[in-house]
Order: sequence, then structure tokens, then C-alpha cells
Amino acid sequence: MSQGVLRYLARSFVNGGNRDGGRYLLGTFEAEFGRWNGVSCGVIYARRMLSSSATEPAPIDKEKKGSAIAEEEEEKKKNGGGAVVPSSYWGISRPKITKEDGTEWPWNCFMPWETYRADLSIDLKKHHVPKTFADKFAYHTVKLLRVPTDIFFQRRYGCRAMMLETVAAVPGMVGGMLLHLRSLRKFEHSGGWIKALLEEAENERMHLMTMVELVKPKWYERLLVLTVQGVFFNAYFVLYLLSPKLAHRVVGYLEEEAIHSYTEYLKDLNSGAIENVPAPAIAIDYWRLPKDATLKDVITVIRADEAHHRDVNHFASDIHFQGRKLKDSPAPLGYH
Ligand SMILES: [Fe+2]
Ligand SMILES: [Fe+2]
Repeated sequence: MSQGVLRYLARSFVNGGNRDGGRYLLGTFEAEFGRWNGVSCGVIYARRMLSSSATEPAPIDKEKKGSAIAEEEEEKKKNGGGAVVPSSYWGISRPKITKEDGTEWPWNCFMPWETYRADLSIDLKKHHVPKTFADKFAYHTVKLLRVPTDIFFQRRYGCRAMMLETVAAVPGMVGGMLLHLRSLRKFEHSGGWIKALLEEAENERMHLMTMVELVKPKWYERLLVLTVQGVFFNAYFVLYLLSPKLAHRVVGYLEEEAIHSYTEYLKDLNSGAIENVPAPAIAIDYWRLPKDATLKDVITVIRADEAHHRDVNHFASDIHFQGRKLKDSPAPLGYH
């Protein structure tokens, strides 16, 4: 703080507080604070004021600020008029993104270039026949896990899907993370598998974000997710370290079960046992569905995604089974 300001404050204090001067200082701060419309900007400007040698801002400062605002507005226009994030200090702003129909893109969690139309022509009946001991172990483990799931959820498929998606999004993240660390340790490429597995995890998470629009989790379901995540994340992490071949095979069979569950869900939607409500907005944008899409359309595209995950994971397990490395076999990137 400069000597000028200190002198001013001391004089105000000795005079019993020069209210006019104080109000002026505060008034100027408020005016600037309002204009910049941001706490950090307001504070930055207040500091600038206090570090200047005069209590009254020089006209030249106002001109400078005016031109800075004009420059900022110009920059906004260049970036497509997008909203500037609360603190512009770091120069971060999101350009304005529009949909094909010209309306503003409403999501921050995914962008238009990450959306896709699901390939519904995929064979839903494809199955990997377990041959080796590891395959049979994976197959029967998954079948065994299905028993308590069937008992707990029965035909409450909305709730079942929501809860199972919290688990389904874990393997891709664990596998992707471990391959990422391996790539760093070994100074080698991953063949695209890091990205492919992380894409799968993100896709599964979008299934969850969609389901949660339709079914609101109860407190005990949230508690169950916490417990299951704690157990499953660690179990899958250790399994992937010990045998990625077995880990991918387990996920392949889990995906086969997911296809079965979503097929049952569709049966209940067709019979009217579950109401075929309009599709959530997030699903319409993510899978580029028509505006009048329904829950049936959403479940159909999610089921197609699960079939793709099934293929990717059985394929990865086969690569290991043949004694080859994932990095030597190009990953199915963008495989939906
Ligand atoms: Fe899923
Ligand atoms: Fe899946």
C-alpha cells in the first residue's frame, strides 16, 4: 500500500472518519465491482486502487479500463460469444457451441463431437463358449453373481440398471489406468488400448447419468453402491494385475448378462409393465436420438453399447490367450 493511501486513511481516522471520502472509496469499489461482475475481478481492482498513489482514480485509468473491457468483449466475440468462466484470470473460456439446429449446446459434461448413433445392427446373441479353466471360472463366477442380483432387484429393471451401471463403469477405468501406468513404466505405446478402455468407462458412466434421470437412488441404495464400489474396485484392480486375460473375460461375460437384463427390460416396456416414458434430454443428445424418442429407444441403444463392450473385452482376453500383447493389436477405438 502506498504512502498516499496510508496518509489518506490516517487523516480520515484522525478526523473522526471522513465519511464522504470513505463512501467515495467504497462507492468506486462497488461501481467497479458491479461492472466487472466477479469477486476476483473486484478484489483485483480494489487492490489496484489501494496500490495507486492517489485516492481519486485518474481519468486515464478509466480510459484504460474501458479499453480493457472493450478488448474482453472483442475476445468474447472472437470466441463465438461464449460465457467467460467466473475467473477470467487464467484466460479460460468455453467458446459458444451450438447444436445442428442452431440452439445452444446445453451440456458441459460431453460435447457434440463425443455423441454418436448406436450401431443397432450388432449381433446381440454372440457368446463366447467357455473352453479353458479360466473361461469356465469367469463364466460361472458371473452366473453366481447374478443370483443375489436377481433376488434383490427381481423385475425392477430401472433400479437394477442404475445400480449395475455404477459397477459396469469401473473395469474400463481400472484397466485403462493400469495400462497407462504400464506405458509409463515400460516407455512403450499402448496400441490405443488405454483410450479404448477409458472410452468404455465413460460410455458406461453416461449410461448411469441417463438412468439416474429416470430412477432416483434411495439412501440405502447409495450406501450399497459405496460398499460394492469399495469391494469391486479393489478386487478388479488385483485381478487385472494378476491376470488381465481373466479380468477381460469376466467383463465379457458381465456384458453378456447386461444384454440379457436390458432385453428383459425391453420385454416389460413392450408389455406395458413398465411405462414407456419420454427419453431424458441427456440421452437424446448423447445418442443423437429423435426429439420424440422414448425410454424404449434409450434401452435399445444402451443394449447395443453393452454388446460392443462384450466384443471388446472378449477380444482383449483372446489376445492375451493367444500369448500376444494388447499393445501389438490395434485397439477398437470409437467402437460403439
Ligand atoms: Fe452399461
Ligand atoms: Fe457395458
